[in-house]
Amino acid sequence: MNDHLLPVYNRAAPHFVSGAGSWLTSDDGERWLDCVGGIATNALGHCHHALVAALREQAGTLWHISNMFRIDGQTLLADKLADACFADKVFFTNSGTEAIECALKMARRFHWNRGDLERETVIGFAGSFHGRSYAAINASGNADYLKGFGSVLPGYSQVSLDDRVAAAAAIADPRTAAVIVEPVQGEGGARALSGEELGFLRRACSESGALLIYDEVQSGMGRTGRLFAHQWFEGVEPDIMTIAKALGSGFPVGACLASDRAASGMMPGTHGSTFGGNPLAMAVANAAFDEITRPETLAHAQHISDRLRAGLADLAQAFPDIIAELRGKGLLIGVRLIPSNRDFMALARERRLLVAAGGENIVRLLPALTMTEDDAGEALARFGAACAAARARMAEAA
Ligand SMILES: Cc1ncc(COP(=O)(O)O)c(C=O)c1O
Repeated sequence: MNDHLLPVYNRAAPHFVSGAGSWLTSDDGERWLDCVGGIATNALGHCHHALVAALREQAGTLWHISNMFRIDGQTLLADKLADACFADKVFFTNSGTEAIECALKMARRFHWNRGDLERETVIGFAGSFHGRSYAAINASGNADYLKGFGSVLPGYSQVSLDDRVAAAAAIADPRTAAVIVEPVQGEGGARALSGEELGFLRRACSESGALLIYDEVQSGMGRTGRLFAHQWFEGVEPDIMTIAKALGSGFPVGACLASDRAASGMMPGTHGSTFGGNPLAMAVANAAFDEITRPETLAHAQHISDRLRAGLADLAQAFPDIIAELRGKGLLIGVRLIPSNRDFMALARERRLLVAAGGENIVRLLPALTMTEDDAGEALARFGAACAAARARMAEAA
């Protein structure tokens, strides 16, 4: 099986052939409750009627024309995004990593354009994840992802979120061009930064002249119950922000958003993409934006998050030998486990519940923002059953 595919993934056993709402169906006819959601991507569940309709209509009208020409869907979506946050300018990409690439180039180019040629360093944080391009793996500094790919790139360094003194010194360095941070670290362990932490980074950047980049690829587009996770807090807007995943809710599309000031170094010829923001992607992303930004959708996401978190808190009380801590924000839920998260995921899969792994031995629940009350109850029941199975396994091993 899969002999011709580059073996960079350890693929799990179920073979999915269709999906609807929060459920996937495998080739043997089994139904699986999906709390992975394409890793925080399928914000509206599988095959949402509005997205299917938008894609079908666009597929019969116009697929691709290149960014040499005006694409109405881009203008429309950029206006909506700019109305909804700090941003004045938007560049559309095909993925989160490419949005990161644009953000990092834009930040360096901002300083270069002002004649500040010294400012090149990008400060990232331990435990971060920004994608798999050379720039992205150097920005996050994760040794596992850098290993074997040659010299690390100059102009990147990392600090710990817990070391305020080191972070302040790094940001104040006159060679620092930008700071890149996930308002809720996803892959690294569902760590939600506080308003105080984001406020510190915002102030430190403003004082030093460095640009602040938020990577909201995973936390953005409604995942936390607000359109963007940083919008839970006042006065912490970034200069640049990356989004993807739920932006197309399953259709590959990302974006780099920026203030006019931060974008001031980007002029014709400085960046580009063949596919980024093509008419198909824009049709789906516009439809997804309209659905996600409905007040009922965001209120429902918050309600389901409260429901799941309350249920998981009860399970944590009942299974203190299995669950160590609940983390994250909104529907980016992290459960830090005592037994191995990989073993627990297998136990959950035996109960036809899909959860995602994360750093620091967590499993993440990243369900659709539209998950029904009944499905949330079912997810909790299956999670509890997996906890009981993990306990039984630990007793057997003792
Ligand atoms: C916070 C964050 N940034 C960037 C990326 C990279 O996005 P993509 O896989 O679409 O390139 C991810 C993907 O998981 C992510 O979680």
